[in-house]
Amino acid sequence: MNSYIEHVDFFKGNDPEELVREYGTPLYVYNEDIIRKHMESVSKVIEKYPYTANYSVKANTNIHILKIALESGINCDAMSVGEIKMLEAAGFPYDRIFFVPNNVSDEEMQYAIDRDIMISLDSLSQLEQYGQLNPGGRCAVRINPGVGAGHNEKVVTGGKKTKFGVPEYDIDKIFEIAGRYNLTIAGINQHIGSLFMNPDPYLEAVSNLLNIAKRFNNLEFIDFGGGYGIPYHKLDDEAEYPMEDFKERLLPILDKFVESYGKTPLFKSEPGRFCVAEGSVILGRVHAIKENSGVEYIGTDVGMNVLVRPSMYDSWHDIEILRDGKPVSRDNLSERTVSGNICESGDLLAKARLLPETKKGDLVCVLDTGAYGYSMCSTYNSRPRPAEVMITGDGKVKCIRRAETYEDLFRYM
Ligand SMILES: Cc1ncc(COP(=O)(O)O)c(C=O)c1O
Repeated sequence: MNSYIEHVDFFKGNDPEELVREYGTPLYVYNEDIIRKHMESVSKVIEKYPYTANYSVKANTNIHILKIALESGINCDAMSVGEIKMLEAAGFPYDRIFFVPNNVSDEEMQYAIDRDIMISLDSLSQLEQYGQLNPGGRCAVRINPGVGAGHNEKVVTGGKKTKFGVPEYDIDKIFEIAGRYNLTIAGINQHIGSLFMNPDPYLEAVSNLLNIAKRFNNLEFIDFGGGYGIPYHKLDDEAEYPMEDFKERLLPILDKFVESYGKTPLFKSEPGRFCVAEGSVILGRVHAIKENSGVEYIGTDVGMNVLVRPSMYDSWHDIEILRDGKPVSRDNLSERTVSGNICESGDLLAKARLLPETKKGDLVCVLDTGAYGYSMCSTYNSRPRPAEVMITGDGKVKCIRRAETYEDLFRYM
């Protein structure tokens, strides 16, 4: 594909040069329609049985995006009190929030207890803590299903090598602690990891969790976690996550469970990336072109402070080069390395990437930055965080977060 942004009309007729004239670079630009489409898709993963998708807000906590989730009718997962507060501000009622933290303090746990927010305990130690704070309470337990998957070791959250969840061999201890504090274990949840394109490990983990679920009486809900991938190599025509095929294969597993369990719990999933990743690009300016020992460097202002995924996980983001607001043709490509403006040799957006000839003054358009993009931004090198704008359904441009100023860097000193 020559240009994804043209293919989907990402900017809906708005000129990217106009956007950056008004809001500066780097700039996060969101497309509301794409986000709505993905949120609608996850709300239909299971249609035969009671089901809710819980958007995992760590992927992107901008309140305007949370409001889209609210309107789409999906619920949300929060990992911290800060995320709960963002959801409160977006208008989420407490019964649409699931708190899935790990290693939290008494105060953080109490915050959820005081608001009747369902909380999942990630270890026996945290279950004990919950029992002490809220004897007689209703809660969930995160299970480690023994299966993991993900694009990088750092995002695999199931299996033997991770800090998350209670392993299956400790299930009896859950019952023992619950009995001691008169707790109702209302649900169990898991999350095997992030960004898989092949549903096999997820389906295996679903089967494992449902087998484990049979050991619990009267579960109200069972949550299979998130992790569905998106095609980050779309310029090379990578296929989408096979959602329809996945749904078809999931259903008989659920049918078998419901038949044997004797009651139908609410099923849940926890997608983050799938909801928002494709709904955003970053526009950045090319400020320098240089050569070093045969490598051409395209020097931009999209540093690792703006998008950390490439330097943290070696993640791939497709990049389009825009000149006068239009994508430069990809007919003639050669290897170029795209770097940011941070004083770190690892501050590289793309290494030896096939790109068209690029000039100082061009824009880079980094694709698929809606998940773990702004939410992982920092002010490293004392660079203020960028603005975020949304192209709304009717093609208008709405600023959904202003750019930080240099004054903002001094706010807490
Ligand atoms: C517990 C939990 N649920 C859901 C998610 C969302 O994962 P993803 O964005 O890959 O769907 C994460 C992300 O790491 C997570 O830790």
